[in-house]
Amino acid sequence: MEIFPALFFQNLLLYLLSGICRAADTLSSSMTISYGETLVSSGQSFELGFFSPGNSSKWYIGIWYKEFPEIVVWVANRENPLGNSSGVLTIGPDGDLVLLNATTGVVWSSNSSRTEPGSAAQLLESGNLVLKRKDDNTESYIWQSFDFPSDTLLPGMKIGWNLSTGVNRYLTSWKDDNDPSPGDITYRIDNPGMPQFVLRRGSEKIYRTGPWNGIRFSGTGLPPQSIIFKYILIYNNEGLYYMNEASDNSIITRLTVNQSGLLQRFILNKGDFSWTTMYSSQYDQCEEYGVCGANGICKISKRPICECLYGFVPKSQREWDVHDWSNGCVRRIPLDCQRGERFFKVNSVKLPDLLEFSLNKSMSVHECPSECYKNCYCKAYAYSDIRGNGSGCFMWLGNLIDIREFSQANSQQDIYIRMPASELYHKKKTRHVLIFVVSSLLFGILFLGFLIWCLIQRRKEKRGSETNDKDIELPRFDLFTITTATNNFSSTNMIGEGGFGIVYKGTLLTGQEVAVKRLSKNSGQGLQEFKNEVILIAKLQHRNLVRLLGCCLEGDERVLIYEYMPNKSLDYFIFDQHRKALLTWKKRFEIIMGISRGLLYLHRDSRLRIIHRDLKTSNILLDSDLNAKISDFGLARSFGGDQTEINTKQVVGTYGYMSPEYVVDGKFSVKSDVFSFGVLLLEIVSSRKNRRFHHPEHDHNLLGHAWLLFKEGRAWEIVDDISELSPVESEVLRCIHVGLLCVQKLPHDRPTMASVVVMLDNEGMTLPRPKEPGFFVERSCSEADMSTSEERRLTHNVVTMSVLEAR
Ligand SMILES: *[C@@H]1O[C@H](CO)[C@@H](O)[C@H](O)[C@H]1NC(C)=O
Ligand SMILES: *[C@@H]1O[C@H](CO)[C@@H](O)[C@H](O)[C@H]1NC(C)=O
Ligand SMILES: *[C@@H]1O[C@H](CO)[C@@H](O)[C@H](O)[C@H]1NC(C)=O
Ligand SMILES: *[C@@H]1O[C@H](CO)[C@@H](O)[C@H](O)[C@H]1NC(C)=O
Ligand SMILES: *[C@@H]1O[C@H](CO)[C@@H](O)[C@H](O)[C@H]1NC(C)=O
Ligand SMILES: *[C@@H]1O[C@H](CO)[C@@H](O)[C@H](O)[C@H]1NC(C)=O
Ligand SMILES: *[C@@H]1O[C@H](CO)[C@@H](O)[C@H](O)[C@H]1NC(C)=O
Ligand SMILES: *[C@@H]1O[C@H](CO)[C@@H](O)[C@H](O)[C@H]1NC(C)=O
Repeated sequence: MEIFPALFFQNLLLYLLSGICRAADTLSSSMTISYGETLVSSGQSFELGFFSPGNSSKWYIGIWYKEFPEIVVWVANRENPLGNSSGVLTIGPDGDLVLLNATTGVVWSSNSSRTEPGSAAQLLESGNLVLKRKDDNTESYIWQSFDFPSDTLLPGMKIGWNLSTGVNRYLTSWKDDNDPSPGDITYRIDNPGMPQFVLRRGSEKIYRTGPWNGIRFSGTGLPPQSIIFKYILIYNNEGLYYMNEASDNSIITRLTVNQSGLLQRFILNKGDFSWTTMYSSQYDQCEEYGVCGANGICKISKRPICECLYGFVPKSQREWDVHDWSNGCVRRIPLDCQRGERFFKVNSVKLPDLLEFSLNKSMSVHECPSECYKNCYCKAYAYSDIRGNGSGCFMWLGNLIDIREFSQANSQQDIYIRMPASELYHKKKTRHVLIFVVSSLLFGILFLGFLIWCLIQRRKEKRGSETNDKDIELPRFDLFTITTATNNFSSTNMIGEGGFGIVYKGTLLTGQEVAVKRLSKNSGQGLQEFKNEVILIAKLQHRNLVRLLGCCLEGDERVLIYEYMPNKSLDYFIFDQHRKALLTWKKRFEIIMGISRGLLYLHRDSRLRIIHRDLKTSNILLDSDLNAKISDFGLARSFGGDQTEINTKQVVGTYGYMSPEYVVDGKFSVKSDVFSFGVLLLEIVSSRKNRRFHHPEHDHNLLGHAWLLFKEGRAWEIVDDISELSPVESEVLRCIHVGLLCVQKLPHDRPTMASVVVMLDNEGMTLPRPKEPGFFVERSCSEADMSTSEERRLTHNVVTMSVLEAR
């Protein structure tokens, strides 16, 4: 304990005499900071000063976002609080940064071994507090706060091992909201051969990433290098560090661990100045460590989410049936290390935890299987490095814990699991052949029996269909309610007609207005398909999607009840000479954001993951406040866990909005929706239709026109010249830019909706240059929009759930 009374009083005097230290970013040796004073980084991003969290009576020195004083990203004296706000932060006589209390006792010190008198502390724009030598402008700091992480990882900050000192730096949560001292949640890099991140409560693992695979930490569900930030792993003889950098100064992001055991990556949404969670350790149930027990695999698209790996059965079927997966699975047939054992490949997984395993980083992919085969303890293998053709070899010698399946088939690793010969090859020996023949005969008979049973059931179902539909979890309306509401489907209540039926406006007895869609009897859709569709759509709940309120199934009537949208659809406004003036730029931008959020929900966040396939202005409905709601999931398809692209022979949709790969090859994916979104965006900005677009100087459609102008730096000219729009130039240009990125020819060039939302929201972010759009020279035979209802009739076996004209 050192005490410097003289210094303290000298500093106090200086403080009284001057206000120089206020709002500067540097604290030099003669200055002090006390309660009420702060250091502010040069770009006004971060601020350092005294604070007292929550209802605590203790005081701390911390760094927070200047705009968000409640978000403290670093605390100096986490474990040694001041009893009250009397205290000063200053540079000690030996050059250390010190915090003194009211009696000038040293409460906290930077305690650097390399100090020298005359140094100065500076709060950098990155949020790093550094101690520098006098007049030294290099980056060789005596001390820096980035070396002592609290609960937050800021861009540019390294966490991990310094191998020469053996120090491991990691994130630790606060004890609670009122106490920044280290809690029991930690997030650190473990290095059991290959680095992986583990989040722990005390010593218990609660979440982990997969091991580093040469490119990134596998099993995080994040794209390898997102346009938003870069992940960097420094891995050499000196150390093993992880850091991330925003790809752009305008992106503000942080990674935080909190006391509930939640790891979250936040990004600042510049639009409404709020923090959005980009990723979290509780992103879905499969992220929980070892949720499916030993040898289980978690599949988020399945219900229940846990399954035993192939060749394994639940250790206790009883527990498994009540979703207690903790005891995991055991082999159906034990391994005996006899000849004939093979490997069974499980695609695209987060590799199991590195518990009992061996790793040889120099082994080639050919040696790995044979090495595992030779070793009787080897239960499974995988390649450790996926760069190039793959290399390195993990061999698991014990149970396989914490495996989850991923849907992005290309970006995760595969694992090969050892199977006894009898599990894969039943007919090795003649005895087996006999068994096989007998069992297949038996199976055949059973199967026939099953078929007959099915047929009988089907008949029964057809007869009793009115009563047997408890499986729809959606409010049921009886036909009487509906006929009353619509005045017995009176033609005066009709508000639209689509391919699959007529839409009526109805008023329920409660006074609620609804849109009622009565499906035509010859729609060609089976009862089961109808129910599937209803269930699909009933599960979608989002502010920017039209909500299905209920359905009615009586006799051969099939009726759907939707929320009523008083303001019709977007095309009713933006393509009309007079009405388009009602949509100001501010409103249009809100509509664009609404559509993008709704679509992001469909693609990523809804449980079902849905491709809309028919996004266009007439399918964007507007509520009484002109908020956009996506409607008409008539052509929507849910895509399962592994799929990222679907092939179809039936190309249905609307020309002008369909992406080239869909029209030409029948391939659709979330990126085809992104294309349609891009078209929509350009139409909203320009108030013109892509397909009906004419220009005296060229034959291009709206996409081509926008691209030409963009290349010449005149993108602004496509904007509708209605003065009432009063557009914000930067916002408009960003929209056009994002629109052009979305309509690029190749699907993999187009951004995902998640990126689109970020790009639209963040002003000043550097966007990539768009390549040539798909279909920009387009003057084919028919000028008119092909009527969707006609198309629908052609393909009426697809689905019938559309609110086409339900406005
Ligand atoms: C602060 O509030 C929490 C509950 O919100 C309470 O448990 C705690 O005792 C309070 N601490 C102090 C110092 O008042
Ligand atoms: C803080 O505590 C010290 C000693 O207990 C006392 O001298 C000082 O006045 C207190 N300061 C405030 C602002 O209460
Ligand atoms: C100031 O700090 C010193 C050393 O940590 C301690 O002995 C003393 O009690 C503290 N004074 C107050 C008022 O907290
Ligand atoms: C300063 O560091 C030394 C070792 O580097 C350690 O022994 C000492 O306890 C530290 N002092 C404080 C106040 O943290
Ligand atoms: C590791 O620690 C040593 C000793 O403190 C230091 O000299 C070296 O720069 C550190 N390495 C890295 C990469 O930070
Ligand atoms: C942790 O974060 C989550 C989500 O932001 C929040 O709901 C929870 O209350 C936080 N827990 C604590 C202890 O702050
Ligand atoms: C790793 O594999 C290579 C190539 O098969 C082999 O030469 C080397 O001895 C192995 N290393 C260890 C430690 O087993
Ligand atoms: C990858 O494999 C292909 C074909 O087997 C071979 O032509 C290529 O050279 C290999 N690349 C590397 C980096 O080993």
